[in-house]
Amino acid sequence: MSGPVIRPIPVVILISGRGSNLRAIIDAVEHDDLPIDIRAVISNRPAAGGLQYAAEAGIATDVIDHTEYTERAAFDHALQVRIDACQPELVILAGFMRILTEDFVSHYRGRMLNIHPSLLPEFPGLNTHQRALDAGCKVHGASVHFVTADMDGGPVFLQARVAVRAGDTAEQLAARVLEQEHRLYPQAIRLFAEGRLSLRDNDEILLDGAVMDQPLQLPAPADAPGP
Ligand code: GRF
Repeated sequence: MSGPVIRPIPVVILISGRGSNLRAIIDAVEHDDLPIDIRAVISNRPAAGGLQYAAEAGIATDVIDHTEYTERAAFDHALQVRIDACQPELVILAGFMRILTEDFVSHYRGRMLNIHPSLLPEFPGLNTHQRALDAGCKVHGASVHFVTADMDGGPVFLQARVAVRAGDTAEQLAARVLEQEHRLYPQAIRLFAEGRLSLRDNDEILLDGAVMDQPLQLPAPADAPGP
């Protein structure tokens, strides 16, 4: 007997670059029944590699080039108008490298997710892998969180941990974290798409109706350290 049929929720995905997370999400829609309907992929950079992949997958793409706007607020407004034309229930930031205005963030409160390559609250911002190595971390990873006005500081609900190996370079560590991001993001999106997650006014997350007191962890990859 098959389970209940879940209506795919409309989403818009924002990218700035190569789009490997976008690709993992599209693959999960095509092969793992991830219940989302990707209405558009929008990039702030015309050369973003992910645009081509989306187009090849038959998804509508658009570019809103931030260099054509002198004001951050004007860019965010144009982006918001374009997103809202798609009437998404969820906005997915997948390597979208922009600082967002408070108005934009509050407009999508509780319905915008981001993936970040660290175990937040450790290492918000850039160069997370080198910073984790410099700090002597034994474990690093990636997090998915609701986006709030606090950059990379919104409530986290799912993480993947990655062991740091002796002699790792930032590039080697980044590659192993990215592999986990590709498992992590589709699963995080699934929780939202299945209606299991919501964000409260006080920034608490409800999962299946109960307040989360800490993020869920994806089952460890083979090389992760023991408990
Ligand atoms: C990923 O590491 C993601 O965590 C961060 O930006 C990178 C985007 O990579 N926010 P890609 O464009 O998805 O390949």
